[in-house]
Amino acid sequence: MALNLPDRDVLETVIIPFFSQGTICFAGLDKNTKNYPSLFKTQVYFLDIDQRYLPAGSTVGDIRDLHDLFPEPFDAVIANGLAAFGLNTAESVQDTFDSVYKALKPHGIFVWGYSDSNERRIIDPVFIKKEFRPYVFPPLNTWRYPGFRSWNSHKEYSWDINKIAYQCHTFEFYQK
Ligand SMILES: C[S@@+](CC[C@H](N)C(=O)[O-])C[C@H]1O[C@@H](n2cnc3c(N)ncnc32)[C@H](O)[C@@H]1O
Repeated sequence: MALNLPDRDVLETVIIPFFSQGTICFAGLDKNTKNYPSLFKTQVYFLDIDQRYLPAGSTVGDIRDLHDLFPEPFDAVIANGLAAFGLNTAESVQDTFDSVYKALKPHGIFVWGYSDSNERRIIDPVFIKKEFRPYVFPPLNTWRYPGFRSWNSHKEYSWDINKIAYQCHTFEFYQK
């Protein structure tokens, strides 16, 4: 199922194509990510704790074990939509950042996508993730890109504005 939402456009047409070289890990799959293997123009490894939507041959595992699961470091890790969908505490998010840090090459990039809505916020978005430093992502010219949703153009989600999980879907960019 294609989700015709602005944050999805940013992910698919701006963020993923930017990583055209090196080795990438993409964590968190879903019914709407079935075509993602074809979007990457470089070597990509998919990871999810649930094998349901993983492309064949992918690794089933917890992102908090990323550095153990993949001994070779990555140039970039993209984790989208895991917070509040498995990573439900601040500690689990911090463990994720720690593991991703270890799993990246020096200067490697971490893209962290999450719904910054009241009901799904796990931690303060300006929480400093230990060793990482914010990375100004060139195509968006910011280290933190908040998605905005137009009420009128997405009527299917307008039944309760406060429950729009993707309303404030945000991408943060970090560098090791
Ligand atoms: C809401 S889906 C997001 C899917 C996808 N990234 C997207 O862009 O739509 C969340 C996914 O994260 C996975 N997940 C949750 N916690 C995880 C963890 N600790 N390690 C790896 N995957 C996890 C879930 O199994 C689920 O498939």
